[in-house]
Formats: sequence, structure tokens, C-alpha cells
Amino acid sequence: MPSIFPHTHLLTAAQCDRATVDAVIARATEIARTPERFTRALAGRIIATLFYEPSTRTRLSFEAAALRLGAHIIGTENAAAFSSAIKGETLEDSIRVIGGYADAIVLRHGDDAAGERAARASVVPIISAGSGSAHHVTQALLDAFTIHAHHGTLDNLTVALCGDALHGRTIASLAELLAHEDNTRIIFVTPPTLRAPRALISALRRSGVVCHETTCFDDDVISQADVVYMTRTQRERGSRGTALILTPAHVRRMRRDAIIMHPLPRTDELPAAIDHDPRAHYFTQASNGLVVRMAILTLLVG
Ligand code: NCD
Repeated sequence: MPSIFPHTHLLTAAQCDRATVDAVIARATEIARTPERFTRALAGRIIATLFYEPSTRTRLSFEAAALRLGAHIIGTENAAAFSSAIKGETLEDSIRVIGGYADAIVLRHGDDAAGERAARASVVPIISAGSGSAHHVTQALLDAFTIHAHHGTLDNLTVALCGDALHGRTIASLAELLAHEDNTRIIFVTPPTLRAPRALISALRRSGVVCHETTCFDDDVISQADVVYMTRTQRERGSRGTALILTPAHVRRMRRDAIIMHPLPRTDELPAAIDHDPRAHYFTQASNGLVVRMAILTLLVG
């Protein structure tokens, strides 16, 4: 019987076809409904978290997910300083060694290709928790879960991806994931300096996604979007430019059934004045990270 989850490693959103996304959403829904059935799902397993870049939600939700499934956690939140990387060890060598201790490795790294490099060196599943400015597959999956929970589908959606599309890996990954769904329309709303890479737009168009680009929250965007997905400017990756701010006045013109999302952390682009609007879904989105990462761990390691 074919596995419902045929992947050894989880590295990119491009890898997540509809069947994969559906399997993750179904399992996460099951876990949310009956968490008591999963408390021993990974009993006796060891999950390593290896983070070369800062993280709050991703690392803590992965660690909480592993603990809630009965697994143990080993790892470092600052692998750049507290691992042998500082002594010059390559990522590949670190992965080879940690694979001897743990049943899976959750990896965040500054290199776009880190996930692929780690997977080539690893004897255990690698789960990318963010690679460079290109990949953040588990964020895209929890974003898809959040959109699906609200709209009941991932088909026929108009999604405004706003902010830093140049270096924002959450934007790239969500766009790639939605490219597998039917009739996806994406509007990139970015400052002129932070437009999406041409290669991303070409790949999306080749997959049948209708892509538009604009530099402000004009009426078309605001009144058509089913999802307004905000992101911060990735200054640590060299992004520059004045951020586009989603104001309460914009939100008033949004559709009643639209939702506002943000992977967090936020800066000025998403004022706290919006938090009480029923369309603000970013804290629900962050908390969905727990069940979605539990789902990913059970499907990949269980
Ligand atoms: C994002 C990331 O690390 O790419 N954060 C997250 O995982 N929720 C977004 C960001 O840092 O801007």
C-alpha cells in the first residue's frame, strides 16, 4: 500500500503536492480533535533541533510538538555559536554525527540549500525549519492549515502576499505550496525594492498561478483578497525600503470573510490596532504551528 506520506525528508514547499498537504491537514485536524490519542505516538524517539538562526515560534512549537507526542528533545538554539560550527565543522559533518544520536533532525540554517545538503548527508529524516531566504516549508504547511480551517478549501483563492517578497522565505514557500492547488491567484504587494524574484514568478506562472504585482494596498487588492498575508522586511538578509503598513482603514475595506495572516515576528507593517478585528488570524496561525508540527513529526518519524 502506498504510504500516505511518501517523503523521507521535508525540505521545500515545492515538494508538497496536494496529497502531501491534504495528509498534513487531515492528521493535524485529527490531532486537534483527539490529542489524547497521540500522547505516545513518538514514545522513546529522540528529535534533535539544530538552529543556526534565531527562532521563537518555530523551535518552541517543534519542541512542544515532540514533547506532546512523547518524544525527547536534544539540540541547540544557537548552533552557530554553541555547536562545533564555531570550530569549523561543516553542516554535513554535524548532520552525520547527530544522525547517530537522534531519530530526526529539525534544521534551521541561513543557506538556501542547507536542507538539501543536510538530507544528502543524513541517515535520519531532515525537517527544514527555514533555509535561507528561499524555504520555510513547515510555515507554509501551517499557513495552508490556517487558510483551510477558515475558507474550507485551498482552491480558487486570491492571496495577497505583502511586504518582503525578495528575501521573505514564508512568502516564497506559501506561493509554491498554493501553486499545487486549483485556480490560485497571487497578488504580490511589495515596495519597489522588495519585489519577488523573477524566477519565483516565472515558476508560479508555469504552474498555472495567475500572478499580479503592485506596490500599494489599492482597492483591487483589498477588495479581492481572500487572504492578506503580511510579512516584515528581512533587514538581516539585506532588504531595504520603507515597509508597507496595513492600516485599520485598509482593513475596513477588506471583505468580510477575508483573513489577515502574518508568520510573525511583526514590526511596523501590522499595527496592534488591528488585533481585535475578527479577520486578524495571526495568533491563531501561530498556535496552529503546534498541531501542524505534531502532524509532520508523526507522518515523517512515527
Ligand atoms: C519567519 C521566518 O523565520 O522566516 N518566522 C517564523 O518562522 N514564523 C518570518 C520572519 O522571520 O520574518
